[in-house]
Amino acid sequence: MSDIFVVGATGTVGSQIVNQLRIRDARVTALIRPGTDGAALASQGVKVVEGSLADPTDDLARAVEGSEVVISAVQGGEDVVTHGQVNLIRAAAKAGVPRLIPSDFAVDLFRLDYGDNAFLDHRKKADEEFASSPVRPTSVLNGAFLEVMTAPFLEMVDWDRGTFGYWGDGNQPCDFTTIPDTAAYTAAAALDPGTAGRPVRVAGDVATMRELHAALERGSGRTLQLRQLGSVADLAAEIERRKAEASNVTDYVALQYVWAMVSGKAKLDPLDNDRYPDITPTKAAEFAHRFAA
Ligand SMILES: NC(=O)c1ccc[n+]([C@@H]2O[C@H](COP(=O)([O-])OP(=O)(O)OC[C@H]3O[C@@H](n4cnc5c(N)ncnc54)[C@H](OP(=O)(O)O)[C@@H]3O)[C@@H](O)[C@H]2O)c1
Repeated sequence: MSDIFVVGATGTVGSQIVNQLRIRDARVTALIRPGTDGAALASQGVKVVEGSLADPTDDLARAVEGSEVVISAVQGGEDVVTHGQVNLIRAAAKAGVPRLIPSDFAVDLFRLDYGDNAFLDHRKKADEEFASSPVRPTSVLNGAFLEVMTAPFLEMVDWDRGTFGYWGDGNQPCDFTTIPDTAAYTAAAALDPGTAGRPVRVAGDVATMRELHAALERGSGRTLQLRQLGSVADLAAEIERRKAEASNVTDYVALQYVWAMVSGKAKLDPLDNDRYPDITPTKAAEFAHRFAA
């Protein structure tokens, strides 16, 4: 039985990773912050320890000792995603833990440059620091979550108005994966020592924006009026316009994710889906059943 340590286990993605690890019979220890309720984790047979990535390395090292893999599914700014995760890998190194899966879960951030995406910059910085660690990282890269793609955050699908807006010509293939499927691939990668030191690229579905639109209509049985919002260059200009007026990075970062996809710059290639044939990921049309009227 494998011993896996999970940070961020109370979060949206982390809780699904814990589910998938338990399905695969892994023994799971979860780090939760003081004041966060770990009862749901404990009731799943997870050993819960209190702590924070802001803690000194010694405390974290004691917590992760004996684990085969540390998985991080934290969310936050540079303090957590860069500095916190660097604390985590240092603690793992000190405790002799051989592998770590960082909280990347994104488009191919290794193909992006600094400045392309404010949130992914923090992850790129952490990943650069990991390169000098004896702990071997495995980034799980899954494209966009279908749950996020079809929600207001990315300003593309509006189920209330019945519209689907897209940037570019609509013909660039993009990668989409559900959160449970990403969690399943993450658990599988954690239990697969052959992924040490290399990213795992997976996609539940690969579709152009036009194909995604058709799949969402087919799966939901609803009509979404297709609207071209502008070219990829127009999108880049819109990001710069919002950036100039922004009071917060959240004013433009969603569009940076869209740009990474529709420009093709952060396309996942090649995909590692075949490495895990036991996982049959959900396609966009099947996912869209939940939006049926
Ligand atoms: N590809 C996509 O479309 C997509 C979309 C959304 C998210 N993601 C990625 O998925 C990952 C997880 O996101 P999420 O939505 O699951 O986040 P979330 O629901 O906000 O959960 C974040 C987790 O991190 C924990 N945490 C935060 N700061 C911490 C600290 N200093 N020390 C220890 N734990 C800390 C939180 O603990 P508490 O319970 O104590 O707050 C929580 O368990 C992120 O890397 C995010 O960028 C990808």
